[in-house]
Amino acid sequence: TASMLALGSLVLLQDPDAFARIAHDEAAAATFVEEALRYLTVVQLAFPRFAREDVEIAGVLIPKGDMVLCSLSGANRDAAFTPDGGRFDADRRASGHLAFGYGIHRCIGAELARMELRAAFPALVRRFPEMRLAVPAEELAFRKLSIVYGVESLPVRLRG
Ligand code: HEM
Repeated sequence: TASMLALGSLVLLQDPDAFARIAHDEAAAATFVEEALRYLTVVQLAFPRFAREDVEIAGVLIPKGDMVLCSLSGANRDAAFTPDGGRFDADRRASGHLAFGYGIHRCIGAELARMELRAAFPALVRRFPEMRLAVPAEELAFRKLSIVYGVESLPVRLRG
């Protein structure tokens, strides 16, 4: 959730229309949050699964006992699933994304995280309407060795 808050804020700072719109529009904020969850997919891999028997998926045999790692970020940007998925679109109705995984081990905190994000982003832009990046975006450092994607720090100016 913390990574989503920082990376989502970065997306907002680069999308002035979305920044202005979510301040007082709950529906726009909810749409923004779903698209940010899809686009950022901060938990990049689902937890490992193990094949309980030989199984064939999309023409590939996975032998019994093998471990399977699913790339959630890959799935969420798959063109067959989301056209033009590499682009952030604050108006996209990003239903059915895999940012919280899938099946019996799907994230148990998903609805809590959604509530927090839907509350926090509008509160942030209402409280600091002049907020902007304090460094050029190209200078930001992103985590390299974690399955939870994130920015190392997000320096901002809150006013003027
Ligand atoms: C934006 C925030 C969050 C994201 C993107 C996220 C994402 C995920 C993902 C991708 C999984 C693996 C699902 C799978 O393998 O199918 C997972 C599992 C899990 N998450 Fe989250 N999560 C978030 C917030 C939270 C919060 C706030 C909590 C607890 C309060 C939480 C608790 C858990 C637990 C307990 C599991 C393991 C579920 C199981 O194995 O049955 N998560 N989460």
